[in-house]
Amino acid sequence: MIKKLIIGACAIGIVGYLGTAAYIYNYDSKRSERLIASATPKGDAQVRDIFYKRGCEYCHTANADMPFYASFPIAKQLMAHDVKMGYIHFNMQSTMDSLVNGTAAPESDLAKIERVVADQEMPPTRYTAVHWSGSVSAEDRTAILNWAKEQRSKYYVSAGVSPAFENEAVQPLPPQMETDAKKVALGAILYHDKRLSGDNTLACETCHKLDAGGVDGLVTSKGINGQLGPINAPTVFNSIYNIEQFWDGRAHNLQEQAGGPPLNPIEMGSKSWDQIIGKLASDPELTAVFSEVYPQGFTSESITDAIAEFEKTLVTPNSPFDRYLKGDASALTAQQKHGFQLFKENKCDTCHVGKNLGGQSFEMMGLKEDYFAARGNGVAEVDLGRFNFTKFERDRYRFKVPTLRNVDLTAPYLHDGSLDTLKDAVNMMLKFQLETTLPEKDVDDIVEFLKSTTGEYKLEQATKL
Ligand code: HEC
Ligand code: HEC
Ligand code: HEC
Repeated sequence: MIKKLIIGACAIGIVGYLGTAAYIYNYDSKRSERLIASATPKGDAQVRDIFYKRGCEYCHTANADMPFYASFPIAKQLMAHDVKMGYIHFNMQSTMDSLVNGTAAPESDLAKIERVVADQEMPPTRYTAVHWSGSVSAEDRTAILNWAKEQRSKYYVSAGVSPAFENEAVQPLPPQMETDAKKVALGAILYHDKRLSGDNTLACETCHKLDAGGVDGLVTSKGINGQLGPINAPTVFNSIYNIEQFWDGRAHNLQEQAGGPPLNPIEMGSKSWDQIIGKLASDPELTAVFSEVYPQGFTSESITDAIAEFEKTLVTPNSPFDRYLKGDASALTAQQKHGFQLFKENKCDTCHVGKNLGGQSFEMMGLKEDYFAARGNGVAEVDLGRFNFTKFERDRYRFKVPTLRNVDLTAPYLHDGSLDTLKDAVNMMLKFQLETTLPEKDVDDIVEFLKSTTGEYKLEQATKL
């Protein structure tokens, strides 16, 4: 009886899968024609067509239309499972859009797609086994990999990278960008100015120490009146290279970000910009130099503009890892080179991607196993991550991937500051993001590799008038 049930269930499941196949296949040709017709001249119709035909788009964008037999219990379960897991793991909507518009696909999407396509991991075999039009041919593979390479060289490669690493998902940090020296000088002063806080006890520097990795070294930050904040302070170094700011990405750029802490009641705790401006304006010397650069004088915009300009100089190029990527083979030890190899083999570089080794995407903490259940203490509001900002269900527990540059200096780790050592952080990633374990020696090698990302920084501006 049970056997029959199982066989029946499997049959319905397979029918469901075949149905999905037929469904995609049937509307394949019409849809393909439309896709090709709708692509802008700059778009890449061929690659988009492959992503459509092979079902990638079906499992990796929202609102996959379910065919009628999806209501059969088992078929529904099987399909819903893959569609749901596919969408949780990877949302390729921005990439599909970029293929229409001829614009940049997200850097971490490129790294992820490249990896699964090169390793022939996608689509899942369960799907291709019953759906012949879903498997990726050698020709498709070449087209996808060429497209990814072109995208990288057009949008993401750093100047000076050695030809051997041109098509690497991680890139060297560029030297400091062009800045407005006068604004930077003012920003440096304001960054260190405690008058931005309600009781004149805290500056940006208090929580983002420039001689200590750009962090405060605390589990969660301590704000005005000794109040403990809910979340670990990320580094200010290289934050100019993040796509958005804050763990949940609620600020779009550094200027917008710098507007947050001064009025945050548990950070700097000022009552209003008027309060801050009143204090700064009663300083005649500062007012004089400030209005030379900003004729409008002190406003929330001019103050945050100067701070953001200064933050553009908070970069740490020339780490051993950067020198290695630029062609100095002796910049890394043999152990670090092995660590880098493992970093790539284990897909760390598909999330910790690009020149900032992170900061390019929002990823679920606990992709493979429930991190918060394992951690205990329940789930706090900040643990909801990007969901708090977007209110999209998919963004629950998703955080901006932290940079791994200078990570040796930025303990404790994770948004909750729950881990003291890099080794713990690497083990945590292996378990919860990748569902794997490595021998202790390999974990040590990854840790040694991570230490090679510590770069150079020297404060060149005065911090007071
Ligand atoms: C039947 C649904 C389905 C189809 C079709 C499918 N995927 Fe997936 N995809 C999944 C699932 C499920 C996962 C999660 C895999 C896992 O459990 O490890 C996933 C994961 C991924 C990931 C993330 C992998 C990672 O290591 O983080 C990428 C990238 C991806 N798929 C790309 C593709 C591409 C490109 C195609 C088309 C060639 C494709 N997928 C087709 C269901 C699908
Ligand atoms: C009381 C400690 C504290 C003070 C003071 C403070 N910050 Fe922060 N900073 C934090 C914390 C905590 C976060 C993370 C908050 C979050 O993501 O929700 C953060 C986030 C940031 C980020 C985002 C980095 C990233 O990768 O997302 C930047 C940039 C930053 N702060 C710059 C500043 C500047 C500029 C000032 C002064 C105007 C400042 N901070 C004042 C604690 C502080
Ligand atoms: C699926 C995307 C993803 C993959 C794959 C991944 N990470 Fe992470 N990593 C994250 C996210 C998201 C966080 C932040 C999680 C949090 O704070 O709760 C993080 C945090 C970290 C941290 C702590 C950094 C800090 O400043 O707090 C380290 C170290 C780290 N990852 C290393 C690695 C290594 C090494 C690998 C490969 C073995 C790896 N990661 C693979 C997404 C990923």
